[in-house]
Amino acid sequence: MSDSLTAIVLAAGAGTRMKSRRAKVLHEIGGRSLVGHALTAVREVGAARVVAVVGHDREQVCAAVTEIDPGIVQAVQEEQRGTGHAVQVALDALGDAPEGTVLITYGDVPLLQAQTLSELLIDHRGAGRAVTILSAESADPSGYGRIVRDSEGAVAAIREHKDATDDERAIREINSGILAVEAAFLEHAVHSLEANNAQGELYLTDIVAKAVREGRPVGAHVLEDVWQTEGVNDRSQLARLGAVLNRRTTEHWMREGVTIIDPATTWIDSAVTLEPDVTLHPGTQLLGATSVGAGAEIGPDTTLRNVEVGTEATVVRTHGSDAVVGAGATVGPFAYLRPGTELGERGKIGTFVETKNAIIGAGAKVPHLTYVGDADIGEGANIGAGTIFANYDGVAKHRTSVGRHAKTSSNNTFVAPVAIGDGAFTGAGTTVREDVPPGALAVSAGQQRTMEGWVRRKRPGTPSDEAAQQAQESAGE
Ligand code: UD1
Ligand code: CA
Repeated sequence: MSDSLTAIVLAAGAGTRMKSRRAKVLHEIGGRSLVGHALTAVREVGAARVVAVVGHDREQVCAAVTEIDPGIVQAVQEEQRGTGHAVQVALDALGDAPEGTVLITYGDVPLLQAQTLSELLIDHRGAGRAVTILSAESADPSGYGRIVRDSEGAVAAIREHKDATDDERAIREINSGILAVEAAFLEHAVHSLEANNAQGELYLTDIVAKAVREGRPVGAHVLEDVWQTEGVNDRSQLARLGAVLNRRTTEHWMREGVTIIDPATTWIDSAVTLEPDVTLHPGTQLLGATSVGAGAEIGPDTTLRNVEVGTEATVVRTHGSDAVVGAGATVGPFAYLRPGTELGERGKIGTFVETKNAIIGAGAKVPHLTYVGDADIGEGANIGAGTIFANYDGVAKHRTSVGRHAKTSSNNTFVAPVAIGDGAFTGAGTTVREDVPPGALAVSAGQQRTMEGWVRRKRPGTPSDEAAQQAQESAGE
């Protein structure tokens, strides 16, 4: 028997109970769609060819499947006439008949691991069976197909709940729906299914009894970890499986040397990568393709999506997306990193600072109350508190550059496009409208005018007037 592997992922069902405009299999846990999890598992186990069977919401599902991997064959099942019919449609879409083994999984079973599929395949191939069912003992088997065994304990059939007798309904070993099948047997068996059952459907599960009748070996590979076989039908199951997945993800990273102070309030998407000695404080969400370097500290109360955090960096009470934080840099508390932010090594984005399309050099600091939009800030520069990079003239966005080791003062406005040279300074309250050459000091606030005795004349008898009088008296005036 050839070792070649084809996977069929069934995803044509309606998902009515989600009550959603979005296709059921496109709902996400761990930052990945349900069908994305299913396709990742079959890819990881080494399926050379993958067929996704789509039906309901198929424009949405097809587009998502193509985005995940354009090499996946998409088979359209116009009418959902049962799992057996879905597999017929998949085989027809393949063109040339598959050889070796066919693995059948569901698009709405997201926790199934490639490791489990690999063990199923080893068992199936090692025993030389026509069909191997991935089964599990379920505390609540209601609704599932039951594994019916003969007096010797050998698998005899799968009986759907609706077709089962009371005795059969007492069986707790369930069909997960995931099967490994010899390709040639599947071709032959699936095209001779009949819909003589309670649901009037073509049951894929009927191929088990057929194999037994034909004297072909069948068996079940029993999985201890029932969660891996759980499907999503409604939002409540979506949340439950999302929480289980997150627990598994946090456990995984703790085993890899990450400190997670409170796993229950820490959410980590499946595609996130972390290095040893990262510390995650409570209320941290690491989403999308976020990566965190060794020794960095994130949180509390921080959400990062597609953010690259360098080694030994600190990010406190921050919301960030599509940004880079350099090694040893510090961010927050209360920072908002918008797309295109790149903070250099040992740089600082401090408290109540918002950044967007901003390249901030090594060791440069933006410590307090500042908006940095569309800017290049050179290494070692320091931006004063309360600075606004005025990047928008009402029509278009423009860039500002601040040179290396420039020191700009508090309450400045930089009206883009404008350039402040290397080593230049600005005075407090300056509005920079024209370029400042290297090494210059720019001041725009003008001479201060002080009108002596103004309060006495214009606000007599007020508490301010009284305070001023007292100050003058005690100064002996
Ligand atoms: C199926 C199994 C049952 C098993 C259970 C596990 C059959 C006959 N029954 O039952 O033994 O215990 O799964 O969850 O196989 N689908 C299609 N096209 C169709 C019908 C279904 O693509 O025409 C897809 C669905 O989108 C879903 C999967 O197949 O991903 C299972 O379909 P579902 O209707 O949920 O099957 P069950 O009746 O629950
Ligand atoms: Ca189901």
